[in-house]
This record gives sequence, C-alpha cells and structure tokens, in this order.
Amino acid sequence: MLSLTIQQKWINRKLVNRDTMFLAICLSRSTLAWNNSDECQYIKQSKVPTMHFQPSLPRLPIPKLEDTANRYLNAQRPILNNDQLNTTISYVNKFLSDEGLMLNKALLEENKKNKHTSYITEPWFDMYLKDRKPLPINYNPFLVFTQESSDNNQLVKITNLIVSSLRFMKSLRAGILEPEVYHLNPKKSDTELFRTITNLVPSSLSWYAAYLFKAFPLDMSQYHNLFNSTRLPELGKDRIYQNTSEKHIVVSRRGHFYAFNVLDEAGYIHPPKEIAACLKSILDDNRPINIHSVGVLTASERDFWCRARYHLIDIGNRDVLKKIDSALFMVNLDDDVMQDNKSKLIRNFLHSDAINRWFDKSFSIICTKDGYAGINFEHSWGDGVAVLRYFQDVKKDITEKPWFHPHDIENLKANNSDIHRIEFVLDTKAKGIIAEESKKYKQRTQNLAVDYLIIEGFGKNECKSFNVSPDAIMQLAFQLAFYMQEGHMVPTYESCSTAAFKHGRTETIRPVTLETKAVCSALTDKNSKLSTAEIKNMIVACSKAHSNLTKNAAMGQGFDRHLFALKNLCQRLNKPLPDIFKDKSYEYINHNILSTSTLSSSAVMAGGFGPVVDDGYGIGYMIQDKLLGSIVTSYQDKRSASDYIKNLDEAFKTINKVMLHK
Ligand SMILES: *[C@@H]1O[C@H](CO)[C@@H](O)[C@H](O)[C@H]1NC(C)=O
Ligand SMILES: *[C@@H]1O[C@H](CO)[C@@H](O)[C@H](O)[C@H]1NC(C)=O
Ligand SMILES: *[C@@H]1O[C@H](CO)[C@@H](O)[C@H](O)[C@H]1NC(C)=O
Ligand SMILES: *[C@@H]1O[C@H](CO)[C@@H](O)[C@H](O)[C@H]1NC(C)=O
Ligand SMILES: *[C@@H]1O[C@H](CO)[C@@H](O)[C@H](O)[C@H]1NC(C)=O
Repeated sequence: MLSLTIQQKWINRKLVNRDTMFLAICLSRSTLAWNNSDECQYIKQSKVPTMHFQPSLPRLPIPKLEDTANRYLNAQRPILNNDQLNTTISYVNKFLSDEGLMLNKALLEENKKNKHTSYITEPWFDMYLKDRKPLPINYNPFLVFTQESSDNNQLVKITNLIVSSLRFMKSLRAGILEPEVYHLNPKKSDTELFRTITNLVPSSLSWYAAYLFKAFPLDMSQYHNLFNSTRLPELGKDRIYQNTSEKHIVVSRRGHFYAFNVLDEAGYIHPPKEIAACLKSILDDNRPINIHSVGVLTASERDFWCRARYHLIDIGNRDVLKKIDSALFMVNLDDDVMQDNKSKLIRNFLHSDAINRWFDKSFSIICTKDGYAGINFEHSWGDGVAVLRYFQDVKKDITEKPWFHPHDIENLKANNSDIHRIEFVLDTKAKGIIAEESKKYKQRTQNLAVDYLIIEGFGKNECKSFNVSPDAIMQLAFQLAFYMQEGHMVPTYESCSTAAFKHGRTETIRPVTLETKAVCSALTDKNSKLSTAEIKNMIVACSKAHSNLTKNAAMGQGFDRHLFALKNLCQRLNKPLPDIFKDKSYEYINHNILSTSTLSSSAVMAGGFGPVVDDGYGIGYMIQDKLLGSIVTSYQDKRSASDYIKNLDEAFKTINKVMLHK
C-alpha cells in the first residue's frame, strides 16, 4: 500500500546513482566467494543464544475475574442499547456469583499444571485448526516487501530471498539468531553491554537481568514453526506437520510444482549460483498453465480438502504430497507483472487464482515477474511478531548482502537432474473436483472488494506533535468512517501481541470506547454545540483511553482471551453453557465488523487480510513518520470497501483539521 508513492520518488532519485552503486556492491562482494564459512551460512551470529531468555519468560497472567467482567462491560457499553446492556449486566453478575467462579477456579488449576506454556495456547490452536473455513482471505495474511529500483529482476530477487531465508533458518536452528527483545529505551538497552551482561546471567534468571535494563525479551517458541512446517487438512480439526530431515524447497510456477535441494548432505546451503540455476531452468520451462493444479484445493473448505486429499493419496499421490508438506518452505514464481497496479498487487499476494499457490504451507515467498516479492502465511502456527522479524531480517540481508547479482545470470549452468518435477496423478474425479473448486474460488474472489488509502503528511510525527497516540488516531478514524457511513458504532477488533509472555499469542484491544463514540457523534452531528477546542480535548481523551487499553492488552489484561478460555473449558468439561456466553450481545461483540491489525516496518510496503465476517471489513494498516496507510477488504454483496475508503479519507481530514486547531 503506502510507501508506493514515496518509494517512487526514491526510485527516481536512485536511478541516477544506480550504476555507481551497483559497481560498489560488485566490488565489495567479489572479494567474498560463497563457501561453507559461518559468514556465508548464517545471517548474523548473536552473542546471546536464541532461546536464552525463554526459560525465564514470565507466564501469561489470567486476569482477575472481576477485571475481566468490568472490561467486558466497558467494551459493550458503546455498542449496546440500554436494554441490551441491562440484560448483559445481569448475565455478567450471575456469572460472577456462580458458574464463573467454578470455571475460573478450574482454569487457574489447569494453568498451574501447565507451567511450560500459557493458558491460551491450546484453545487458540484449536480455534484455528478446528475452523473449517478456507484459509485464503479468511485467515492467511500477506506482506509485500518494499521495492527498490535495482531489484526488479525476478531471478535475482528470488535467489537472494531464498539464500537469505536459508541463512535465517540455519541461524535459528543453530540457536544463534538474536533473541527478539522489546526495548523500552533502545539507547540504554539495545547495546553491547546489555548483550554481554544478560548473556552472563543463566537462562533461568536472564529475563530479570533484561528487565533491569527496561528491556523485555519476547517469546521465541513460534519461530521454529516458520520452517519445515505445513498445515494438513483433517476431518474436524487440522494438524501441523513438521519434518526437520529434509533439504529441499518447493517452487511453483504456472501451477506446476518443482522440488530441489538447497542444503547439502551436511546441511550447508548450496552456492547461490546453483540455486539460481535451478530457478532459471524452472523459469525457462515453457509448459502451459496447469489448470488442474492441486494448489487450488488448498483454497477450499477444510473438510472438503481433506476428503479430496484422501482421494489423491488413494490414487497414488502420497509421495508427491509429502514432498510438498516436508519442504523447508514454498516459493511461488508468478508470471504476472504488477507495474503500478496496487489493487492487482494486493489481490495477487492476498488470494490470486490459487493455481500457483499452496496456502497450507507455513509461509510461501511469492515473487512476480517484475520482482515484487512478499509472503502469504498460514496463521495457526504463529503471529505477526515472528513473521515480521523473519521478514525484516531477510529484507535487510538481501539489501545489505545480496549473494547473487544480475551479472551472475550469464554463467549459470542449469543441471536439470537436480530438479525434481512434482507430478500428480489425477483421475477424472480429481480433475472434476479441481475444476469445480477453481470456479468457486473465482466467484469468491470476484466478490471480494479491495481498496487502499495513503494519507501523506499525517503520520507518527504529526500525532506526536498533537500529543496523541498515532494508533489511537488510526482507530478513531476507522470508527468515524463507519459512523459517517451508518451512524453507529460496531464491534471492532484490534490485535495486540502478548509475546512478552511465554507462549503468549495475542489479546484483543477493543478500541470502541465511550470516548470514541462521543467524538464520532460530535463530528457527524451538524447541530453539535461543541466547539472545535472541546472536540480536540475529546480526541485527546480518546487517545488516553486507547493507550490505556493497549498497555493493558499487551500485559495480558484484556477480557477476550480470558472469556474465550473459560467458554472453551466449559465446553471441554461438558458443562451447560452459562448465560453470559449464550447472550446475543456476546455473539454480537464477537462478530467483528471492523477487524484491524497493524504491522509497521520500513521493510513492509503493503500488508493486509480479508474480512473476518461476511459483512465486515478487513483493515491492515501502517503508521510511518509522515504517512498513514490502510488496505481495506470487504465482500461486495455486503459492504463496499471503496465507499469505506472514501469515508476514511474524510475521517482523517476531519480529525486532522480538529487537531490543527490552535
Ligand atoms: C436498565 O437501564 C435503565 C437505564 O436505561 C435503568 O434505569 C434501569 O434501572 C436498568 N434496569 C436494571 C434492571 O438494571
Ligand atoms: C522443523 O521441524 C521440527 C520438528 O521435526 C522442529 O522441531 C523444528 O524446530 C522445526 N524448525 C526448524 C527451523 O528447524
Ligand atoms: C521425515 O522425512 C524423512 C525423510 O523423508 C522420513 O524418513 C521421516 O519418516 C519423516 N518424518 C516424519 C515425522 O514424517
Ligand atoms: C548434475 O547433477 C548430477 C547429479 O546431481 C551430477 O552427477 C552431475 O555432475 C551434475 N552436472 C553438472 C554439469 O554439474
Ligand atoms: C486506565 O486503566 C485503569 C486500570 O484499568 C483505570 O483505572 C483508569 O481509569 C484508566 N484510565 C483511562 C484514562 O481510561
């Protein structure tokens, strides 16, 4: 989304220097030939081992039941009418004095027995793995790398991305990938001294040492699922399959799948030129598009895909499926060019026509003909923090240390015996299923509307000068845009990482508050008697309330996961469901019309996901110093993403005008 425009300016400027820069890179690189040295094989060698802080990470707290109840009611207040609220209050009170006490006690006891993990881990995995909805659009998010002028060659780009991903993977496996740490004050703690000291403290105490520096080590358990993992469809509940013994990746192009080894027998990364040679011969393969690509089935409803997969195994595809499932990761080489078509870019990375995809893979690197690259990832195994770390490290590595250069293409010696084409055996039934699913997917994606908005000149810096949180302003704008459209507040979800805790995942921030409701109402009411100065103060109050909610959620102090875990436990214990969960208002607040999530990083050009409910909006957004950006998706027959974007534009302008008031 966003930086497309500024990127363009940057490209124009950069073009001038391109040749000199290129020469400089070649010179610095030419002295270092690829070999089995650590410098080639690892992305960066951390002094502090990857899992150093893991044993002493604090456990995700289970909030006090009364706090959860209060937070829940506070979130309901701005979206319910008085009668509904009265009913909900009575259910909550009943829960607090009766079933809730018993359930919470059982949850606390269970949690005490599972000190190695968090109370949310299992229910959260189950939530993902049991859902039968198709993965693309519903679950798999995408991220696109920022693009530089010199990297528009598909072969060069993908070779470097693969090499850097392998360097990252090997560092992770060797335990020398730097542990992820949230620095409250980076100047003080993102230092060599910090690393030296915390490294000296044994793992069982190291978290406390970091804490003294006001630095918070994050959970690293999800990172291992990035590689050699895939989600397999099973009836009722999928499972995650992993296999560390394989040495290959799988590359798809035009719906054909190919495998080749990228690690040798001893586990060293093959020379980039050899990897490039394999990729080149795949790119040179002029087979037409495979309209019966099995990849399409990974975009189906999960039970359906499971049955189709059993059939594929029955007719002789066990080994080819295993080849894909056990690959280190997946690469999709697209024939399409994106040029400047941003909607096309978003669609290509979010869903495409599924022919050249395998949505079950933990992540796939996608690279277009004109070198736009990014990833589409399966969500059950992990969350944004782990994915973003991989994404940023790889972006940095291909920028600072590309191992393969355009001039290397000339001398590539392709060795076709290294490449294994994965050929499925398909009978009429299988072909029929694929054709049918292909058609259904096309209809579904045609019904998906995609739009985006870039606000330049209003970003983190300006928000800071107004003394408001940029995230609060973003969230207020999302609500105001909807309010302009429909005149009321709707259930809204903002995801917040709880990776500061062992096996933490996410908590929900409920950004709709009485404060934001008051502002939405004031800014849309033509007869409002409030002065601009008063509204400005109200926006500052929104920001304060939002920052409070955010801080609490990051500390595990929300209400969503706690209630979710209690309901889940109740079901596991086969107890009758308490009224608080049968309440229509509980269902309502969990029908998130606005589903929002942000991943802000200079490595990300665009990122987004689909709506989580049929009549909702999926909003991926980004906050930069001088720019705000959002990508919005919706189902066309229910809601219009482009109408929403128009209102969002208006909402930003309105808020900005109020904030500029002196
Ligand atoms: C329901 O809400 C109204 C306010 O709208 C309040 O006056 C009334 O006391 C409430 N009733 C109950 C039973 O809490
Ligand atoms: C690969 O899979 C294995 C399970 O066989 C797992 O233990 C390992 O951590 C995974 N990831 C990496 C990066 O090796
Ligand atoms: C992993 O792959 C190896 C080599 O193909 C195979 O021998 C082994 O059984 C696999 N492990 C699992 C858990 O599937
Ligand atoms: C191609 O690969 C085969 C088997 O991996 C090997 O025996 C052969 O020497 C290779 N040829 C070239 C030209 O590298
Ligand atoms: C912030 O949260 C605390 C504790 O949850 C609460 O007591 C306080 O009133 C909140 N402040 C604002 C401005 O919402």
